[in-house]
Amino acid sequence: MMRKPFIAANWKMNKLVEESVEYGETLVEKLKAEKVDLKKVDVAVCVPFIHMAALKVIFVLRNINVGAQNMHYEESGAYTGEISPAMLKDMGIECVIIGHSERRMYFGETDEACARKVSAAHASGIRPILCVGESLAQREAEAHFSTVKTQLTGCFAGVGREEAAKTVIAYEPVWAIGTGMVATPQSAQDAAKAIRDDLSATFGSHVGEAVRILYGGSVSSKNAVELIGEPDVDGFLIGGAALHVDELTRICQLTIEATL
Ligand code: 13P
Repeated sequence: MMRKPFIAANWKMNKLVEESVEYGETLVEKLKAEKVDLKKVDVAVCVPFIHMAALKVIFVLRNINVGAQNMHYEESGAYTGEISPAMLKDMGIECVIIGHSERRMYFGETDEACARKVSAAHASGIRPILCVGESLAQREAEAHFSTVKTQLTGCFAGVGREEAAKTVIAYEPVWAIGTGMVATPQSAQDAAKAIRDDLSATFGSHVGEAVRILYGGSVSSKNAVELIGEPDVDGFLIGGAALHVDELTRICQLTIEATL
């Protein structure tokens, strides 16, 4: 099955208003100048909430999606400081990162909370990008597959077949995030394949084959071609490199060329 490549930038907690506007405008220009065909790759820029409105305006009529990095699972209510799926949908936000390892690590996000968020995102018509991945200790103990399997099972609790097929999974080994220690193409492939097999076993092979699986962790234009060449790697979730328009554009170009 041909799965359309998906490239998501995760800005994390970076950029001020002026910088985000400059990035947005430059990205539009650069993708056009480099003739990046956005029909051949889905591109999403996942930004802090305060930047969404401006970027939605800058990207209007362009095929560049704006994504969130988190959200609450309730529609509204007394949850001071939180943002709901209804609010994101209302702004035209297309996707949301759920269960990033930084949220699991620093904000106590559990698989149970992720499951509620995945269901809530689907109920609002927002595509979840669910992050899974093992720590260095888990990798060294050879518990990486079992860790990812447990996360998948927990985060998909209560999720139906149709929703599962529309979910994007990002395999992000924690030891590769922001370290420059990118996973080898083979280990990214092994993890992506294990995820696909697990989803096929749970939801049927139709779902397993449809789900897009991204790799994340020190992705750059230097390693993207090898990684995207793997059969079960369908794109990237990119942190540091995607803070730079040139790098994001280059990775989009290389991905299209490599998946033609
Ligand atoms: P880096 O690309 O900076 O390693 O970050 C990866 C990541 O966490 C994306 O969500």
